[in-house]
Amino acid sequence: MLRPADAVSHRGDPRVFAHSRLQRLAGGVTDPRTRVTLSPLWGGSRALPGSAVKLHMKEAAAAGQLLERSEELARIESALAEVRSGRGTVVVIEGPAGIGKTALLTAARTAAVNGGMRVLRSRGADLERDFAFGVVRQLFEPPLAEASELERADLLQASAGVAAGLLGLPGGTRVEGAPSSGVDSSFAILHGLYWLCANLAADGPLCLVVDDAHWADPASLRYLAFLLTRLEELDAALIVATRPPDAGTDAELLATVTTDASADVIRLRPLTRAAVAQLVESRLGGGPDAVFVDACLRATRGAPFLIRMLVEALSEGGITPTAEAARHVERFGARSVGRSVNLRLRRLPEHAGRLARALAVLEQGDLVQTARLAGLDAAEAAEAAELLVAAGILEAGRPMTFIHPMVRGGIYSELTAAERAQGHSHAARLLAEQPAMGERVAKHLLATEPAGDSWVVERLAETACAVGKRGAPEAEAVFLRRALAEPPLPAERAALLLDLGMAEASVGHADWPEHLQSAVDTAPNAAAAAEAALVLAHALSSAHRFGKAVEVLDRAAGALDAGDSELALALEAAAVVAEMSDPFPPPSAALRGATLRNRAANQPGAPPELLAAAAFVSVLTNEPAEVGAELASRALAAGDNAPAGSAGRPWFPFSAWFSQSMFALLWAERYAQVRPLLDGSIALARATGDSIRLAGGLAGRGWLALRSGDLGAAEADARTALAATELPAPAMYRVMNAGLLIKTQVLQGELDAAERTLAPLECEAEGGSLIAAIPRFARGRLRIAQRRVAEGLEDFLAVGVVLTRAFVTCPGALPWRSEAALADLALGDREAAGRLADEELALARAFGAPRALGVAKRAAGVVAGGDRGESLLREAVDDLERGGARLERARALADLGALLRRLNRRTEARALLREALDTAHRSGAGPLAEYARTELRATGARPRRVLLTGLESLTASERRVAEFASEGLTNREIAQTLFITARTVEGHLTSVFRKLRLDSRDQLAAQLAANVTVPV
Ligand SMILES: Nc1ncnc2c1ncn2[C@@H]1O[C@H](COP(=O)(O)OP(=O)(O)OP(=O)(O)O)[C@@H](O)[C@H]1O
Ligand SMILES: [Mg+2]
Repeated sequence: MLRPADAVSHRGDPRVFAHSRLQRLAGGVTDPRTRVTLSPLWGGSRALPGSAVKLHMKEAAAAGQLLERSEELARIESALAEVRSGRGTVVVIEGPAGIGKTALLTAARTAAVNGGMRVLRSRGADLERDFAFGVVRQLFEPPLAEASELERADLLQASAGVAAGLLGLPGGTRVEGAPSSGVDSSFAILHGLYWLCANLAADGPLCLVVDDAHWADPASLRYLAFLLTRLEELDAALIVATRPPDAGTDAELLATVTTDASADVIRLRPLTRAAVAQLVESRLGGGPDAVFVDACLRATRGAPFLIRMLVEALSEGGITPTAEAARHVERFGARSVGRSVNLRLRRLPEHAGRLARALAVLEQGDLVQTARLAGLDAAEAAEAAELLVAAGILEAGRPMTFIHPMVRGGIYSELTAAERAQGHSHAARLLAEQPAMGERVAKHLLATEPAGDSWVVERLAETACAVGKRGAPEAEAVFLRRALAEPPLPAERAALLLDLGMAEASVGHADWPEHLQSAVDTAPNAAAAAEAALVLAHALSSAHRFGKAVEVLDRAAGALDAGDSELALALEAAAVVAEMSDPFPPPSAALRGATLRNRAANQPGAPPELLAAAAFVSVLTNEPAEVGAELASRALAAGDNAPAGSAGRPWFPFSAWFSQSMFALLWAERYAQVRPLLDGSIALARATGDSIRLAGGLAGRGWLALRSGDLGAAEADARTALAATELPAPAMYRVMNAGLLIKTQVLQGELDAAERTLAPLECEAEGGSLIAAIPRFARGRLRIAQRRVAEGLEDFLAVGVVLTRAFVTCPGALPWRSEAALADLALGDREAAGRLADEELALARAFGAPRALGVAKRAAGVVAGGDRGESLLREAVDDLERGGARLERARALADLGALLRRLNRRTEARALLREALDTAHRSGAGPLAEYARTELRATGARPRRVLLTGLESLTASERRVAEFASEGLTNREIAQTLFITARTVEGHLTSVFRKLRLDSRDQLAAQLAANVTVPV
């Protein structure tokens, strides 16, 4: 029985209306072959015109009536249920094109909504792969736009606000004081967006749905990877659909998301014969022959999309599903999707085809834009759009989108290369007329033919700079590469190459050496070449290619005019530091360093690069600590007035002289001077989202905290910095901060955790450069704590070899001699122990900083024993007191106590050991406390049991969290500051409340202020 189209239950549905209109326009009567009887699967047997069937199928699929996906849906539902019971989950749906990922996602969304979850969704798009954070922006824009001002303020607290500001999301904090270009804001954005997600999830369970992740931009993928490892703590599900990773924009990044151990990966299987039969029947009528169904299965390999296209084509071709007709299947099936879609287009009036092709170029667009690109007027375009909707090519509604990416792909692939390039070129110019379209314009320009057009170069360079600032160096590099291919005017080339090389270096792309070298070679003059050489050398040093860095710097210096003395000095300073860092520096390096250092000392108005390098050399070669400290102070003073640096790249000019000065001051023990500088630098890094500055600042501050015995603070800083350097950042910072964390963990007695921190660094630790000495030294400490003394000794001696080769003699940096001396002593080699301890003592006396002296004297005292040992240990305690080294002092006290105990001076010993125990306990230094306690017992005293309640029972981390809470910070704020999850903060506070017997935060401040002394 036939019915007119508008008589079916879709009365009033614009799509059905459009269909009938199409028929009128096409001037035809409905072809009886396009009518089918629907199987019950599609909602009852009713005759519908062909395209209405398609729409109905879509709706049915959307309503969850998917064939052969019940197991998959159950897995998704259980993941969602887990979120609602408080544990975040990740589901990855993976499969080839057209296998039914989007359809399953639709069902998942429905399930989430029905379960009371808030759903945020986004989708990667082929043409938007270079749209930095595009996918992430789609996720978070709507909830921010919908929120009231009050809610928005709540969602955008602290770092979330900074990230929103950097991405231009609604309500974001405007970032003040950001340098004009090139801030590496990746970390601020990732960290902030994590908190935005956490804040959203705090309001109720959340379901993030990302479709077509294979087209997601790398920046968004990096965010998803970042979120993934922290998701468990949030009431949020992340469901990602993707084609296999090798189809992706960035296969490696995509794989880190899809292969994460926490993800439940659903690999979609093709439909079976039974389902194919059902689909054939629903379109071609009852009782399809088995031979016919088999042919359909073979032709489509069971991919639902292809089955749909095939039965569509078969239906349009008037084929009935009989055994004899099976041979037609192959003929139809062999047609690519593109051909079959294009065939359908050709049946429509010409202007519909034009609009479709224009939209395939734009991928998504409003009617006006697309019409202009297609060369149609508004009325024609509107009508064409309706025809396309009716033909099942476009979705109904605005903005216009294709019904499936493969439909767009099909139309696009049928365009000739020239048509495509021209289309994109027109699209770019069209979009450029509108404000704030920079990235879309640039994205189209990527697909155009190079034509030496400076307008194109300008747009691309502009966009590169903007996305670079937003922490998307991969996208920045893509735009710059295309700009260079245009090509630019010769005068602009070097600057573009420099930016490209820097962007590539910051993500570890293999081409950076070549591009930075070309930037040096094509620089318009020697001064510009020197600036570029500084950048190249810095990147080479970061990659541990020190010899090559020195070569580059020396060559650039040789080309400079005599007048350019400031640049020459900066080059020389960089060369000296690079040479010192080299595992095998040339013998001339020592003299070169000394010469530089003398020049700095004698030259009034020397630039900061020179002074900082000189301070570095001075301290490490063990000149008196005041000399190095003075040079570093001069560097910082000079730096205040210096320009931002060659390209305004914070990671380049900042890390060199600022961190050299910082470390010189730290080694020289100018703590009071350095602390506010580090705090200021960290605050600036946080505000501007500069992850490299943040990692450097935290490395320094954490080290300072460790030295003053504040293990909780050291651990927090090291962890924050490590989280920041998960992202592309010079390995140096990861190594430094991991070294710091290992030392802290060893002092806390968390040896297994230390071993885990060490694991990814083992290889680097054996590397032989100055930086590699840091984890090697930390590993030595770990081995000693594990009672693997011989291995520990080997590590300390290896550190000694590295430092000696680099002419580093200062005992304040890494006191390997005293550690090795104690290890030798434990192994029974008194002679070696004595020699090493005395050597360090002599060096420490020359250096003169109190902590270094105290550390050396303690080791020498322990090795010497007897009267000399006693007096050395007493001096050590005083020196360490002066040096503000709380834990080191406690260790010296314990050693002195142990010595006196063995000399049978028990009363004296007890007092010392009790003080040592007290300090160690307060600092959370478990093993040292245990040592003091054992010694104390040996004196016959009965040490108090560890308190289970009261202020003194708090661990360092609990205390830190409690202090923040007492200052009125919320759990979320504390978590953001310490970069731990809100749940960890909750856990700490619960145990604080239990131990202190409190019921509310208001009582915290009073309790913490009470200066309770520990009865021992
Ligand atoms: N299990 C199923 N049963 C019946 N129809 C299905 C099933 N899965 C998908 N379809 C239909 O097949 C078509 C293609 O599916 P879908 O768009 O989900 O594929 P996809 O895997 O997302 O493809 P792509 O990789 O191109 O994004 C849709 O029209 C959908 O409704
Ligand atoms: Mg899809």
